[in-house]
Amino acid sequence: MTDAPKVPKQSARQYPKPPEGSWTEHYPELDTEPVSYENSISPEFFELEREAIFKRAWLNVGRVEQVRRKGGFFTKELPGIPTSLIIVRGLDDEIRAFHNVCRHRGNKLVWTDTPSEEISGACRQFRCKYHGWTYDLEGRLNFVLQENEFFGIDKADYGLVPVHCDVWKGFIFVNLAEEPNQTLHEFLGPMITAIDYPFEKLTQRYYYRGDINSNWKIFHDAFQEFYHPPILHGHQNPVMRQADYQDLGFYTSYFQADGPHRVGSTSGGAGGKLVPEFYNPIEQLMRSGLFGPWDPSEIVTDELPPGLNPGNKKNWGLDSFQIFPNFAIVFWETGWYLTYHYWPVAHNRLLFEANAYFMPPRNVRDRLAQQLGIATIKEYALEDCGTLEATQMGLESRVVSAFPLGDQEFMCRHANRMINNWVDDYKRKQTEE
Ligand code: FES
Ligand SMILES: [Fe+2]
Repeated sequence: MTDAPKVPKQSARQYPKPPEGSWTEHYPELDTEPVSYENSISPEFFELEREAIFKRAWLNVGRVEQVRRKGGFFTKELPGIPTSLIIVRGLDDEIRAFHNVCRHRGNKLVWTDTPSEEISGACRQFRCKYHGWTYDLEGRLNFVLQENEFFGIDKADYGLVPVHCDVWKGFIFVNLAEEPNQTLHEFLGPMITAIDYPFEKLTQRYYYRGDINSNWKIFHDAFQEFYHPPILHGHQNPVMRQADYQDLGFYTSYFQADGPHRVGSTSGGAGGKLVPEFYNPIEQLMRSGLFGPWDPSEIVTDELPPGLNPGNKKNWGLDSFQIFPNFAIVFWETGWYLTYHYWPVAHNRLLFEANAYFMPPRNVRDRLAQQLGIATIKEYALEDCGTLEATQMGLESRVVSAFPLGDQEFMCRHANRMINNWVDDYKRKQTEE
């Protein structure tokens, strides 16, 4: 491997830390001690996490564009819970969520070829494949085959089991608790609900997913720190390991936590800011790659949308908002965004989903630039994947029980603490009952 070209030295300005010490020390609920990852290798903790977090927090399961029309629906598999959900837009235009289970003998109601696969479509009613019981879009049971043989059954008692469902800025959230203790708006809190981004305009979506052999938090952690890119991804592109990384690279210059959620901002964003020889020929040709199209989309104006760049940093390149527990939105300076979901499957397995949202391409060039951006991101995610399966193996050896996290790993430390807090809170409430 040849050495990367030297990056011209630019400003040596350091970003100021908060007035008192480091980012980590700025948050009294955190400490600076080494962190245990027992919660990522313990099957018992996984069981607790399912009850304490995934059955109590609001979870994003999709966007309203997936159910544009009345009768539009999609299914969402949550294998770690485990459950399957139906998200449907009713004839009254309301979006609802139901458990995807027939009330007759428990068959999964909505699926096509393979029961474990998610599907989407549009319909007027849901009909069970087993004995034909039929439900309307509001979940009411409206047909029972040979009803008069069912001992005076009242169909009103056998509707689909509803799930709490609400929408924020077009993002559909569900809450599996019988009675959530917070509304979605309360749960998201002021930092997240301050975001007023034109999500509805970015309708060009690219999706990919991966089935990965690591705990969901281990994978999540690699997407909430920019400490690793110069090393793990640096050989792919010298921009990642430039000398002036604090000013122009992937260095988190601002952190903020609000309740269980957090954000990190960095100057690293789309490519094209540095000398041309830093970029691969295809990137130079397509003006895309690291990361996404380099040219701003139509939504980019002089003013950033409200809620973005909360630290008001110069050289802002992206915000990585981590919405508890397993959902992230990454906003890029060139006017597009990514979402990530980390769905637990077992204590050592997760389903990773990435969605990239762009303005609809105006021409072939736009379309190819978007595609190259996605291909690049997939490349990086694949590198993360291998390493995080290796991390899981290292942790499971239990040779080391606690690990030092630096200030750039503030979000990892915060996430770990929030997870433990939610589990502790759940355990406390269980013993009180
Ligand atoms: S299980 Fe659905 S109709 Fe029998
Ligand atoms: Fe990475």
